[in-house]
Amino acid sequence: MIEPCDLLIHSVSQLVTCAGPPGPRRGAAMRDVGIIPDGAVAIRGSTIIAVGSSNELRRRFRPAQEIDAGGHAVCPGLIDCHTHIVYAGDRVAEFEQRCAGATYQEIMAAGGGILRTMQLTRAATTTTLVAETLPRLNQMLRFGTTTAEVKTGYGLEQDAELRQLATIELLAAVQPIELVPTFLPAHAIPPEFADRPDAYIDLVVESMLPLAQERYRNSLFAGHHIPLFVDVFCERGAFDVAQSRRVLSAARERGLPRKAHVDEFTELGGLAMALEMEATSVDHLDVTGAAAFPALAASNTIAVLLPLVSINLGITHFAAARQMIDAGVAIALSTDANPGSAPSLSLPLTMAIACRYLRMVPAEALLATTVNAAHAIGLGGRIGALMPGMQADLIILAEADYRWLMYELGGTPIAQVIKRGQIVWK
Ligand code: NIG
Ligand code: FE
Repeated sequence: MIEPCDLLIHSVSQLVTCAGPPGPRRGAAMRDVGIIPDGAVAIRGSTIIAVGSSNELRRRFRPAQEIDAGGHAVCPGLIDCHTHIVYAGDRVAEFEQRCAGATYQEIMAAGGGILRTMQLTRAATTTTLVAETLPRLNQMLRFGTTTAEVKTGYGLEQDAELRQLATIELLAAVQPIELVPTFLPAHAIPPEFADRPDAYIDLVVESMLPLAQERYRNSLFAGHHIPLFVDVFCERGAFDVAQSRRVLSAARERGLPRKAHVDEFTELGGLAMALEMEATSVDHLDVTGAAAFPALAASNTIAVLLPLVSINLGITHFAAARQMIDAGVAIALSTDANPGSAPSLSLPLTMAIACRYLRMVPAEALLATTVNAAHAIGLGGRIGALMPGMQADLIILAEADYRWLMYELGGTPIAQVIKRGQIVWK
């Protein structure tokens, strides 16, 4: 019997399904991306209804629209699970200071860095923030990103943090990339609280978190079953372990899922604390020692690695991805897109660096920006793989072999992007 469908994509050299059992991918299973040669995918509405060979699906379906992939590869839409893209201005001047030898931490300690972007973001209206962020999202779409997590954290005061949250919601409604909001009021110690960071944490826990949660409850995110995460920057010069714990435990008491920036420059103990708080993800882990890997591997927490930060800061040390994967840790990769430590919006570049400096193979890099990245933002059952029942988010490459995504340094080997069954970039 011939079945109707809305869209049939066929003649795909490699249909890279990333299909597998539920849950994040670990260990040797990270090398299997589930390729169907000469594949096809059938879509109804916003959902994948079948994957298989071109022959089989062309016989089985009568599509309203079809795309002949022309012997190019198709992968799940890429998922950027850690970004800070809502901000005003740039940090070009600091970039030059760093080229001349200043370190990221020195600039931060002198009141620049995150605090510089905070000044510009506090002064910006929601309209300005939307206008400055939209081009970034358009570029991300061209790089194959179909879902992105977006953090606040450049307001560092109640109104400005809530304005950033409102901006993320506005942006989610006006462009095709699906956004997942993260509330990060404890991203840096605001100048008003320079000598009393604990008082700022009081404000975060007693006032900012409750308000953010209330806004979230009435947002389109809650309506679409997209979670609101709470994150904290646990680092020397930012928040210590006790302060970070207060933020995450307040989030836990409110039933909000949690993330933490840990071990970027200093191994403070934030990782163990975040595991105790059952964080959905722990992010950075650049200086995490091997002693921490067994507990991480035994947890449900995803380790989000951000290698563009090392590249951008000229640091030759990278997170120990190889050892982590071999120890059974579920790894995701993300850009960390932000104006300071990672001014890049490209997941293909992130994967390219991961293959060279984190010693990951292409299959591992792809699973780290699809299946595992989906789990890092709580959407593992819905996006990240091309399987019947999953959302129809996919990219058609400009090449026959999916490894071009990582092989090309700084390229965009992507021909078309499809989000929820619609062609959104071509
Ligand atoms: O993830 N580490 C803290 N936050 C960002 C940097 C943000 C900035 O420099 O503006 C990060 O690297
Ligand atoms: Fe970050």
